Amino acid sequence: MFKIAVLISGGGTNLQSIIDNIDKGYLKNCSIEMVISDRIGAYGLERAKKKGIKTFTLDRKIYKSQLSTKILELVEDKVDLIVLAGYLSILNGEILDKFKNKVINIHPSLIPSFCGKDMYGIKVHERALEYGVKVSGCTVHFVDEGTDTGAIIIQKTVPVKSQDTAKMLQDRILLKEHIALSEAIKLISENKIMVRERKVYISED
Ligand code: GRF
Repeated sequence: MFKIAVLISGGGTNLQSIIDNIDKGYLKNCSIEMVISDRIGAYGLERAKKKGIKTFTLDRKIYKSQLSTKILELVEDKVDLIVLAGYLSILNGEILDKFKNKVINIHPSLIPSFCGKDMYGIKVHERALEYGVKVSGCTVHFVDEGTDTGAIIIQKTVPVKSQDTAKMLQDRILLKEHIALSEAIKLISENKIMVRERKVYISED
């Protein structure tokens, strides 16, 4: 069984997409062993509880710089992959060594555009519209010591329309996020991903 821990901070629609893709058999031999939130009351926790998935809330205001260490205690030797799904705290320290190329994140832009420190949520889409891009999208990437700087696994694009508000663009991209994240998890769970420095190679067979 390919075991996954999902880290969240909010509504958890990306978490829900993983749950749904396991239930409908797209993600074979995958199980979500736990959902960890860095915020009390994140709705994603309710989504997990409904499916009987173990949940932990590690309030980032309490754990502060110990947050990543505490998460490592929970996941070490328990899971094969850590998925950041709308998770807003920084993951750092020993966990990145112990889970090298085993932590992935979904970001709602085509990295390296509109990413990095403080670039999350609706702000990402406001910047994209301000810049006047004609295409935006989402990126699933491995997590390294930087912010949104790890090797890119999958990107999906959406058109930016002249009348778009940031919310309209966000909603259009979110639908692609839900597809891209499970696609990446499937490839990794089926051992079809090889990482060499910055490049990710996906085997076709
Ligand atoms: C999504 O836009 C995702 O790209 C970002 O957090 C937002 C909320 O995700 N990382 P979710 O609905 O909580 O999964």
